[in-house]
Amino acid sequence: MTRFLLLLSLALVGCDSGSSMSEEIDDAPAETTLRALATAKGLHIGAAVAAGPLASDPAYREVLGTEFSMLTAENVMKMGPLRPTPQTFSWDNSDALMDFAESNEMTVRGHALVWHQSLPSWVESANWGRQELIAILQEHIGAVVTRYRGRIAHWDVVNEAVGDDARRRPTLFNEVIGPEYLQMAFEFAHAADPDAKLFYNDYGAEGLGAKSDAVYALVQELLSTGTPLHGVGLQMHVTASNPPSMDAVRSNIRRLAALGLEVHITEMDVRIPEPATENGLVAQAQVYNDVLQLCLSEPSCTSLVFWGFTDRHSWVPSFFQGFGAALPFDEDYQPKLAYQVMQQTLMN
Ligand code: XIL
Repeated sequence: MTRFLLLLSLALVGCDSGSSMSEEIDDAPAETTLRALATAKGLHIGAAVAAGPLASDPAYREVLGTEFSMLTAENVMKMGPLRPTPQTFSWDNSDALMDFAESNEMTVRGHALVWHQSLPSWVESANWGRQELIAILQEHIGAVVTRYRGRIAHWDVVNEAVGDDARRRPTLFNEVIGPEYLQMAFEFAHAADPDAKLFYNDYGAEGLGAKSDAVYALVQELLSTGTPLHGVGLQMHVTASNPPSMDAVRSNIRRLAALGLEVHITEMDVRIPEPATENGLVAQAQVYNDVLQLCLSEPSCTSLVFWGFTDRHSWVPSFFQGFGAALPFDEDYQPKLAYQVMQQTLMN
């Protein structure tokens, strides 16, 4: 633990409640928001947005619009939510996200055009022929990217195509179309918006190892065939007690950058065992800060996006049993130590 973190955590423990801190945040001049500070350093700082609270919770909207310069859709731009039937699109939630982003002058990362999860049941349940599935992919990608052409600067085109065994994941698309579905997906997206930056996004490929080697080989191969691929998203869903080695993440970012690719940290959260302890929160703050510092120091790392921002709305407790409290704001929208340490780093 660094001396700085230790001091900061001691200072926090000394506070009788979060309220004095929240008053400071509420009253803080805009220049001390993560958004303002990161923007001044040329970094986008973002959060995944849940449609429910975006529609109904003014506090959620307030923190989101103030603290972040970039948004991504936690779910509403996935194929399942967007395509209830083959003939219909359900744009309301994604349009609402775009409206919010634009009225708050935020940039949007589109997520995700091709993923083996969150598929509509009509796609999953049928027995498609190869040409039929290619046509569905083309139509879907074309429609979504065209609708937001010029308004979504970055798209996660293919999500999680590499399995935990470091082989191509045997998804519906891979099995029916073949591994060339990846190149096709990027080409369809590029045709619909030639200015959008197109990303391959995955988890567990942040540092070095078999999976990250496989992702590297995959993007290298895509580039060698002229695929319009511009970046790699490193999701960064990690545990505070066992984060990837920052040296390894740096090496990985550098080898991707050497291919001419941009890197975004796309889904960062740092889970700790529940109930959260002071030690857990300190370890978590350290990981957030390490990743922020790393991203700031690598020119190819241009965005740092959290998977949510408040512990009130996070996928972690339901997906990782016994863990939670993974985000920089607590359930009452109060900034946690992780927030304060990142703010401090951005001020220096
Ligand atoms: C998750 C959402 O957070 C959940 O609400 C949903 O039930 C499942 O998907 N990798 C991704 C994200 O690329 O889309 C996932 O989001 C988390 C893992």
